[in-house]
Amino acid sequence: MTTMHSIPFSLRDARRVRVGFIGTGKRGQSLINDLLACPGAELIAVADAREDALGELRASLNAKMQQQPAYFCGPDAWRALLEMDLDLVCIATSWDTHVPMATAAMLAGKHVAVEVPAAQTVAGCWQLVETSEHTRRHCVMLENCCYGYWEMLVKRMVHAGLLGTITHAECAYIHDLRHLLLQDEHGHGRATWRRQGLIQRNGNLYPTHGLGPVAQCLRIGDDDRFDYMVSMSGREASLSEYRDRHVPAGDPRRDEVYRNGDLNVSLIRTRLGRTIVLQHSLVSPRPYDRIFLLSGTRGAFRDYPPRLYLDAENDAGENWVDAATLPGRAQWEDTEWVAHGEEALKQGGHGGMDFIMMRRLIETMRAGAQPDMDVYDAADWSVPGPLSELSAANRSQPVDFPDFRRAQS
Ligand SMILES: NC(=O)c1ccc[n+]([C@@H]2O[C@H](COP(=O)([O-])OP(=O)(O)OC[C@H]3O[C@@H](n4cnc5c(N)ncnc54)[C@H](O)[C@@H]3O)[C@@H](O)[C@H]2O)c1
Repeated sequence: MTTMHSIPFSLRDARRVRVGFIGTGKRGQSLINDLLACPGAELIAVADAREDALGELRASLNAKMQQQPAYFCGPDAWRALLEMDLDLVCIATSWDTHVPMATAAMLAGKHVAVEVPAAQTVAGCWQLVETSEHTRRHCVMLENCCYGYWEMLVKRMVHAGLLGTITHAECAYIHDLRHLLLQDEHGHGRATWRRQGLIQRNGNLYPTHGLGPVAQCLRIGDDDRFDYMVSMSGREASLSEYRDRHVPAGDPRRDEVYRNGDLNVSLIRTRLGRTIVLQHSLVSPRPYDRIFLLSGTRGAFRDYPPRLYLDAENDAGENWVDAATLPGRAQWEDTEWVAHGEEALKQGGHGGMDFIMMRRLIETMRAGAQPDMDVYDAADWSVPGPLSELSAANRSQPVDFPDFRRAQS
């Protein structure tokens, strides 16, 4: 089987990208808003299991579009969407549906853009890789954090060697979602599937936001590969205590047992001997943090807030320097942010990075270029989910990364 790495997008008509969208919940609606602002993108069809999710979208599209997309409603209605004439299928549904939907879409001849994580199991990651190779369709994971202002700027600095040889990185998804996690079917939220993850699994359920940008800085897949990892989950307390304070006695949620520890910490070693600390917490009461630390032989960068330490400029002693005040910062800004940053900030999704991502996806398709992120990236960045579960369940034993990129060697 030949690799999909470095393979350009194929598109019948470079002027237009015909898009079908599965999942019009909170995330889907936000991404559709970004998609409609991308030149050349046409929303042809949408599908969701729930009438209320489609209804919300229909209300917002009425004001924006003259020609409405086709609407498909019901848990299996997405299969009918795949029969339409589409170039790209975007998937923003609950985690368990990503692999079957992405697989069926590629088999139906469509390129795929799937939300994070692309898969929850090692077998699911392989299925995406093998289906992409077999069908010659791309499966891009919508890892928006790779398009953040600082992530793109730091990637350019790292690749230019400003921080020297990178030997270590740290990253995370630390986001206090206790309120969202405890929503029930009858409340405003629909996200009960998120809580099910914490009941059924114990590990890093959401590794890609932290790991994706770091993997790009380290050129995982080109210069280096993930080799093996160890993982440890601590005790659970934050969600159950919060639940007991906020959910009334007698509610079935009071009987739930959450397996997932408050914090999961994993340590990845790459083939070039670099180390990456990867953390995950959806329940700890602390400020949002993806860490995004790159540490090299000539300096370091750390986000939240963005700051630099450069060996060559040690006037600040042993203190970080505010990266926003860096002289000549403009030279490191990514061209996407220079050209489209204002529009991205106006669009708003996650500080503009959602729009930059969607725009790049549509532009690379129209240009017949290779995607920024391919199916091997989707698999590499998602697989620490199941690997962390395996290691954490076995006293942090090391587990090898599957060699999804075998065809590239
Ligand atoms: N990249 C990001 O920053 C980001 C942010 C939020 C969510 N997400 C991801 O987006 C996805 C959706 O998250 P959300 O917050 O929108 O959740 P949500 O619960 O609000 O929406 C999910 C939608 O998927 C629909 N769905 C489920 N099964 C379906 C099926 N069989 N057919 C059609 N529709 C189906 C549900 O009805 C719902 O409307 C998740 O994978 C999540 O991880 C990513």
